[in-house]
Amino acid sequence: MVKFERPRGTRDFTPEEMHKRNYVKKIVCGVFESHGYREIMVPTFEHTELFEVKSGSDIRKHMYVFTDKGGRSLCLRPEATASVCRMFLDELRSRQPPLKLYYCCPMFRYDEPQKGRYREFWQIGVELIGSRTSESDAEVILLASESLKKLGLKFRLELNHLGVIRSLLSDLSEDSQNEILTSIDKKDYYKIKSILSDREDTLLKLIALEGNGRKAADEARELLKGREKALNALSELEAVLKWLDSTGTEYTIKFGVARGLEYYTGMVFEIRVEGLGAQNQICGGGRYDNLISVFGGADTPAVGFAFGFDRVVEAMESQGVSFPDYRVDVVVAPASEDMGKESWKIASDLRQRLSGRIVELDVMGRKLAKVLEYASNIKAKYVVIVGATELKDRKIVLRNMESREQSTVLIDELAGKLT
Ligand code: HAM
Repeated sequence: MVKFERPRGTRDFTPEEMHKRNYVKKIVCGVFESHGYREIMVPTFEHTELFEVKSGSDIRKHMYVFTDKGGRSLCLRPEATASVCRMFLDELRSRQPPLKLYYCCPMFRYDEPQKGRYREFWQIGVELIGSRTSESDAEVILLASESLKKLGLKFRLELNHLGVIRSLLSDLSEDSQNEILTSIDKKDYYKIKSILSDREDTLLKLIALEGNGRKAADEARELLKGREKALNALSELEAVLKWLDSTGTEYTIKFGVARGLEYYTGMVFEIRVEGLGAQNQICGGGRYDNLISVFGGADTPAVGFAFGFDRVVEAMESQGVSFPDYRVDVVVAPASEDMGKESWKIASDLRQRLSGRIVELDVMGRKLAKVLEYASNIKAKYVVIVGATELKDRKIVLRNMESREQSTVLIDELAGKLT
């Protein structure tokens, strides 16, 4: 017999896991929607070039690329920002800015699987298109931090502005700059030194600067004295900090945050948590003002981020955050075979009256004793027993599974008795 296994790096999700994941998704999307963000969906696969232009070497190396029957090169999306920009140009460019968009969908990267790193993983992300202001940077950061606070997670928000590093490298080609940013992202100091023999000093000092609050920004200002472009980028970062300070958001400035993607142009941020081991980055994002114009659109600023959804759920588990229980409210049980039809009617009436509550009906043709045993095993709150004697008076027997008390109740009053 053939035994099938899941492809490496993919997962199955049990009903219990999906219950947790849906809870997290509801909270996070609720925060986005309360700020006026609206959900979109982009295709699972795109033309490969879409992700080759600006995604960065790390993503390019790990893409799932295939040729379709028409000979086109297609790719399972490794991330959604490029897709959203393509969609903006195809569908949304005539709308009045800002466009406030969010998505929740699987991404595919041929990474080496390990704890917290998968080949199919989910992201919940936000893209705010059409605004260049520091408020929009701050709003996007706030969306991320408010969501995590609402979930009850402890986390560390790390901020930087890529203009500071890039301005130290402005005489190098964009490719070399990107190579250095990738090395900074991977903390490959040997590579940085080998590319930048003579000026490594300021850069290495800069990327080592970090700290809570504004102190690191003051130190950077000192280090970058006389470098006008770098100081301008720093001022842009400080303008974002002003908004964050006014909302009491805690942050760490870390000049070594370089991000692994090539499209970022300004403020960038990452969020890390304790308890996840090496894969502790649960969120990444930043400003990418050139991507839409690289794709052939007008000069359109944009900023966004994505949560690694799987890691957010895992971090909640490892930090001992509690999830709401799944609980069946009512099991409707016919006392005898001929009560089946009445039981169906009562169950469907209850579902209508108690919208959002869970009402189960036995579909196994079991005897009453077995249905009660099942209801007890799944920890249902109530069982409604539909028997011929009570039904003559339009009544049923209601059993409270916790107190084990039973009472006879009029069918018309049943919904009101189920607390
Ligand atoms: P990213 O940093 O590549 O950014 O991915 C965002 C998050 O996805 C990461 O912080 C991490 O939590 C999660 N993630 C990445 N790879 C994996 C994996 N193999 N397994 C599990 N989780 C993973 C982006 O993708 C950008 N598109 C974010 C963005 C949106 N920037 C602006 N707008």
